[in-house]
Amino acid sequence: MIVEPVQRVAGTVRVPGDKSIAHRALMLGALADGEQTVRGVPDAADVASTLTCLQALGAEVRTVGGEIRIRRGTWRSGQTLDAGNSGTTVRLLSGLVAGLSIQATFTGDSSLSQRPMERIAGPLRKMGASVSTTEGHLPITIEGGGLKGIRYRLLVASAQVKSAIMFAALNADTETTLQEPVATRDHSERMLRAMGADLTRSSHAITIRPGTLRGTEVDVPGDISSAAFFAVAAACLRDSYVRLEHTGVNPTRTGILEALEAMGATVTFENKTERAGEPVADVTVRSGELRAIEIDATAVPALIDELPVLAVAATQARGTTVVSGAGELRHKESDRIATIVDALSRLGANIEAREDGFVVHGPTPLAGATLPSGGDHRIAMAMAVAGLFASGRTAIEESAAVQISYPGFFDDLQTLTR
Ligand code: S3P
Repeated sequence: MIVEPVQRVAGTVRVPGDKSIAHRALMLGALADGEQTVRGVPDAADVASTLTCLQALGAEVRTVGGEIRIRRGTWRSGQTLDAGNSGTTVRLLSGLVAGLSIQATFTGDSSLSQRPMERIAGPLRKMGASVSTTEGHLPITIEGGGLKGIRYRLLVASAQVKSAIMFAALNADTETTLQEPVATRDHSERMLRAMGADLTRSSHAITIRPGTLRGTEVDVPGDISSAAFFAVAAACLRDSYVRLEHTGVNPTRTGILEALEAMGATVTFENKTERAGEPVADVTVRSGELRAIEIDATAVPALIDELPVLAVAATQARGTTVVSGAGELRHKESDRIATIVDALSRLGANIEAREDGFVVHGPTPLAGATLPSGGDHRIAMAMAVAGLFASGRTAIEESAAVQISYPGFFDDLQTLTR
């Protein structure tokens, strides 16, 4: 994909549904009594991976108009489930399978096969599931059933690990209590509650008791992680704005909006409402004179997937932006510290990698170049945003990776630049 520089961006976009929420709505629908109706499921390869795996496990899925209706079928044991590129699919479904009296093997693409899986295997074994990994990676085989409730302190701040344990805990003998080092996205907690689970949360811990769920109706709001690319484009380009309609604004996810505001952009919220326990709003982001910020471990979970595009904004901000406590970036679809530092350096940015983050000195003018995306959807989209204010042409390799979360990304970007 070739991106040419533009003077400004302006307009309204309604980004596809939130990937995190969609995965959960489909998985928990497959566990529930009755039917779960899910609207606004993104046409994204990761969510398609979840649906295919659920169908292989026996879930009954119908598409009616724009909605997906899912219900429990007869669980099938002995399946090999291909999670594709999707960490959320393999980690959350591992928890679901662990709670059932079935066996399943998970595989994935070359990126997913390099990502750590002991983080879910450990707690699921502690609950009584039999889990074998391949030296900590895929393929992994899980034999579920007969679980006991546990008390567990998460070793990494990960909503995927937390959710896997909670999904398994629904079918344990007693309650499970989890502690997180730093609060992470709470979509699972909200949806479990909306579906009738007995879940309580204190400032330090989440307790979930075994029980059944009932299917409900889930309206998936726009994905703030997709909206973030346009938000950064509007923040960085002079006289720009973007209105992001019907975007999920769960406070465990809005770190990018807070960061852009702290940097000097203007962020406003209109039409705030709630859908299936999730806050939603029309969000407008307007450009400003950007200044550097510091992001540390406590702030990272609320913008973990937005750090690549935040690095792009930092190249246009006055001062030194420091991101620390973000070592988890090395375990995403690519080593995102390495891929973002490499790509932005090729554009002429002044950016250095740190073991657990990066440092950007700005502002620097960028000059178009050919950029590897490493097949990572969020790197490809972040580089497209950088290309809007780099002089000359920016060519993004393996840009088809946007299919993972946002197939229409380049079309929507174009509507803002006309
Ligand atoms: C996700 C949690 C995060 C995030 C990922 C989606 C989720 O991963 O990076 O894109 O839906 O729970 P971790 O739990 O590994 O931090």
